[in-house]
Amino acid sequence: MLTTATLLSLLPAFAAAASCPAPHSPPSPPPGNPGTCGSLHAKWTLSPISLSSYYTYTSPSASGPKLGSIDFVFKNDQVDYSSTCKGSSANPQGIFYGSTWFDCETQGGNQGWKKTSFAYDTATSVVNVTSTWSCPGGDVVYTTYANGKADLKCETSVWENDDWQAGELYSNTTTTCALGTLVIQN
Ligand SMILES: *[C@@H]1O[C@H](CO)[C@@H](O)[C@H](O)[C@H]1NC(C)=O
Ligand SMILES: *[C@@H]1O[C@H](CO)[C@@H](O)[C@H](O)[C@H]1NC(C)=O
Repeated sequence: MLTTATLLSLLPAFAAAASCPAPHSPPSPPPGNPGTCGSLHAKWTLSPISLSSYYTYTSPSASGPKLGSIDFVFKNDQVDYSSTCKGSSANPQGIFYGSTWFDCETQGGNQGWKKTSFAYDTATSVVNVTSTWSCPGGDVVYTTYANGKADLKCETSVWENDDWQAGELYSNTTTTCALGTLVIQN
């Protein structure tokens, strides 16, 4: 598992600070609730992961329509909202390459400080997630990527047109996976 963390401090404008009288205030509290947000060891849960694909041939040698689909709900134990993540592939055999990133839809809308994207690699079953979040009242924005292997139980079935004629579908190979869960501990 690979993990990096980047902390971006969003500092208040110095000009504004300089124009205010310096109050006798205690040091700023840590952002959010220290017990629940602000950890560098966020736990991410991807569930339920739904993965399926099909690819067809329109003749014994010509490949036809194909589609890979993956979706899941992404939860980060640091925040109380989730994201809906969906990706599709029109690559040969409907496979996904780990270099193609898909943006998730964050509850309440994606923001610069609140967004998630993912990449899936069929060959290794690795889901790679990049997430950006901030704690309540947050003046710290976290951006981290981490990945894990989705161990899904999949079944492949092949439909073949025994009486194939030009213009008809020749075969359709379908892979459907049982819903799965992946927990990524940063
Ligand atoms: C995950 O994504 C990061 C950021 O793009 C990349 O550097 C890393 O190589 C990826 N890891 C895997 C296993 O694909
Ligand atoms: C191939 O089979 C899948 C699963 O039954 C189906 O969703 C898809 O539409 C089929 N493809 C074609 C081109 O008929």
